[in-house]
This record gives sequence, structure tokens and C-alpha cells, in this order.
Amino acid sequence: MLRLEVLSCGYGEMTAVHKLSLEVPAGKITGLLGANGAGKTSTIMCIAGHVAVHEGRIIYREGDITHDFPMVRVKNGIAVVPEGRRLFSSLTVKENLIVGGYSRPKENSREGIDRVMALFPRLGERLGQLAGSLSGGEQQMLSIGRALMAQPQLLLIDELSLGLMPKIIDICYEAIVELKQEGLTILLVEQSTQRALEMADQVCVLESGQAVWKGSAVEARNSLKLIDALLGLSDESKTPARI
Ligand SMILES: Nc1ncnc2c1ncn2[C@@H]1O[C@H](COP(=O)(O)OP(=O)(O)OP(=O)(O)O)[C@@H](O)[C@H]1O
Ligand SMILES: [Mg+2]
Repeated sequence: MLRLEVLSCGYGEMTAVHKLSLEVPAGKITGLLGANGAGKTSTIMCIAGHVAVHEGRIIYREGDITHDFPMVRVKNGIAVVPEGRRLFSSLTVKENLIVGGYSRPKENSREGIDRVMALFPRLGERLGQLAGSLSGGEQQMLSIGRALMAQPQLLLIDELSLGLMPKIIDICYEAIVELKQEGLTILLVEQSTQRALEMADQVCVLESGQAVWKGSAVEARNSLKLIDALLGLSDESKTPARI
């Protein structure tokens, strides 16, 4: 579905991701792990077209999208659930969803909203409420819902569970499983190694912008010590990069 070919990207002179090669297979969940500043968000936002490519290529459904505008990528089926959610807090839940569907015909809106409400019934009860007044968990549901309104084939999720209560994380993960069953391809950045390994089919670990480990989630579970070491979680003298 998606292939990053020795991709380097960054901000001005600064390269945040170095020569990353990664295959994201259709219908699977690929987990992207790494400590703070490893380059996870930069990778996601580069795929979406918001971070400049320095070298390499982004191949999506066998087409080269490296230089496509972000809007073109959305139309072609790539949607992002961004870090920090970035909702329009002074718009209602329904309005945020409608904005998420801007790349699709207006008449698809109703169907899209129904689908999001079926996935997250809580949002259905709050359609007229301002996004800024939602709880953190509801905001994350809305952020996922807004991305789904673009009718994506590839969903990029940056930090699904960060700052959420376990019960809400479960709801979000159940939704992700359902979406995978519907055939969606997912690239998932996750701060919880355990959650990522429960969910993902394959995993890539980034360190200082470089891929330092790639493999199936089964292999990752068997190499948990190695993965933790790569994430800086095993050395007790250090503050864990992520808890
Ligand atoms: N807008 C920006 N301008 C300049 N440098 C940036 C910008 N955003 C990120 N960086 C730098 O790029 C590198 C990778 O950051 P990035 O946000 O991709 O990491 P991350 O893995 O998502 O980290 P976190 O776990 O904290 O979200 C870091 O060194 C960071 O300081
Ligand atoms: Mg990030």
C-alpha cells in the first residue's frame, strides 16, 4: 500500500528522518515506535505532505506521491489523526466531522457521520456540542472520526493512546480493530510498546531518525528486551523515554 524508499525529511537544513525504508502492507497495522524526538511525527507528517522530503521517495499504491500536495494525498485516500488532535475547538462535533469530509462530495457527509456515530456512539450523543468542551477521550474519538470522514484507505495515527484513560484507550483500540477488519491500512505511532505490540502486525523502531529495528509483531514480542533497550526503557538509571 505504502512504501518509503530511503526517505529523508526534515525542516530547512535539519534532517529529522534519515534514509528510512519501510513497507506498509495493505490491510495491516504497522506500528511505528521510538523515544521522544525519534522522528515518528516527522515521518507521519511527511507521508501526509506536510514535512519536506530531502531525499528518497514515497510510493503509494504503486504511484510516486513524493511531490504531491497534501490535498491530493487526502483525495487519494491518505488521512491523518494528528498528534495533539488539532480539532477546531470552537466548532461543534458535527461541524468538525463535516470539515473532515471536505475532500469528498457533500452528499457523502450524512453517511460518513452515521459511520462515525456507529463506531463511537458517544460522539453521536454530542453532535451539537463544541469540540473544545469534550473530554480528552472524546476528542481523540472525534479526531479519528474526522479523519474517517475523508474515506481513507490509509490511516496515519500519531499517538493513539497518549494521555487517555485505559477504558477510553480500549474503546479507541476496538475501533481500530473494526477499521482493520473493514480493510483499512493503518500506520500507528504509539507510545505504549505493549499496546502497539498487541495491535500491530509489524513494527518499526526509530532512533534519532533512523530505523534501528524492523520485524513482525511476533518477533518484536520475542525481542521485547531489545525493543525496550532501543526505546531507552530498560536502563533504570535513565528516565524512561515513554511510560
Ligand atoms: N517544526 C519543527 N521544526 C524544526 N525541528 C523540528 C520540528 N518538529 C520536529 N522537529 C525536530 O525533529 C526531530 C524529530 O521530531 P518528531 O516530532 O518527529 O519526533 P517524535 O518521534 O514524534 O517525538 P515525540 O515522541 O516527542 O512526539 C526532533 O529533533 C525535533 O526537535
Ligand atoms: Mg511525535
